[in-house]
Amino acid sequence: MTLPHRPTGADDTPTEESSLAALKKSQLLQALITGTRPKPEVLRHFIDRALENPRLYLSHLAAAERYLTGAQGVDAERLKALGAIRCLLEDKLSPPPERESKNMTYDRSSHIEVGKLRTETFRKIIADIAASGVDRPLVDLGAAACIFSRIAYLQGFSVTAVDARTDRVPPYINEINFVQSDVRDFDLSGFGVILILGILYHLTLKDQIDLLDRCPIGSDVVVDTEIYVPELVVRSENRNRFADRVITDGEYEGISYPELNNTMASWKNPESFWHSEESIHRLFKNCGFSTITPIEPTYVSKYGGRKWFVLKK
Ligand SMILES: C[S@@+](CC[C@H](N)C(=O)[O-])C[C@H]1O[C@@H](n2cnc3c(N)ncnc32)[C@H](O)[C@@H]1O
Repeated sequence: MTLPHRPTGADDTPTEESSLAALKKSQLLQALITGTRPKPEVLRHFIDRALENPRLYLSHLAAAERYLTGAQGVDAERLKALGAIRCLLEDKLSPPPERESKNMTYDRSSHIEVGKLRTETFRKIIADIAASGVDRPLVDLGAAACIFSRIAYLQGFSVTAVDARTDRVPPYINEINFVQSDVRDFDLSGFGVILILGILYHLTLKDQIDLLDRCPIGSDVVVDTEIYVPELVVRSENRNRFADRVITDGEYEGISYPELNNTMASWKNPESFWHSEESIHRLFKNCGFSTITPIEPTYVSKYGGRKWFVLKK
């Protein structure tokens, strides 16, 4: 399918008719109309084209959603796929922030920008993993609002999202399979891609080791986690100076984070362990990962240094 990149309207806005005419030729829309599940390669092709020209495709999708809403026999379920792609394009249209300076101090407005930087980074990582096949089931541990699950689903993966809490799970999560569970009890066998985003640092050292040990041989594991970098500690968030007490536990070194009582926090453990970068490399190696790829640069979150790692067992 090729959609025109030039709209047919007098200005740069496509008309309702031109958008619909273009989309009716697409295999994705045909699948949605006939009620069949779009094939991953059809979905991927559509998303790739859409990301090349998000503004144009947003108009196309709005027209398609209006058309499908009125079409006989098309239910809300099928509209979810279009809604999810629309969210992706809206994200894309908000540009990622300039790289933060190393000495940046945290302010609340930057929280949104860090969020965008994270989704951009993940989008690149998961596209790279998808290039070697989307036929392996993917699990998103500590999925919360399922933002990363949704991006992986749009890449064509079959996605299971796991969280101990349900507070932030949105009503429309497409065909993502949500399971309410403590990740410490969740069986990882059978999953080929494992997302451990924003949750490793909410576990104790013992539970981190257990979780990483349980990632199956051959799996690709993506981690995004707080790490202890003394120079990057955000002083205003250093409650009771937890980040100034460096501790060692066997081969590992880091700080002990006193958990808060909110929906983003740990599930039941009051303290969690944040590794130094050297220590987390040791952890990955000891848990059997043969390839450890840190994604540079370390960025600055609300509390301090934070980093992405792509691992292979
Ligand atoms: C900081 S949020 C991260 C959300 C998302 N993955 C991200 O990176 O933006 C941590 C999530 O992990 C969940 N969580 C924390 N400990 C958990 C556990 N032991 N089992 C399952 N979920 C847990 C919390 O409920 C919360 O939704």
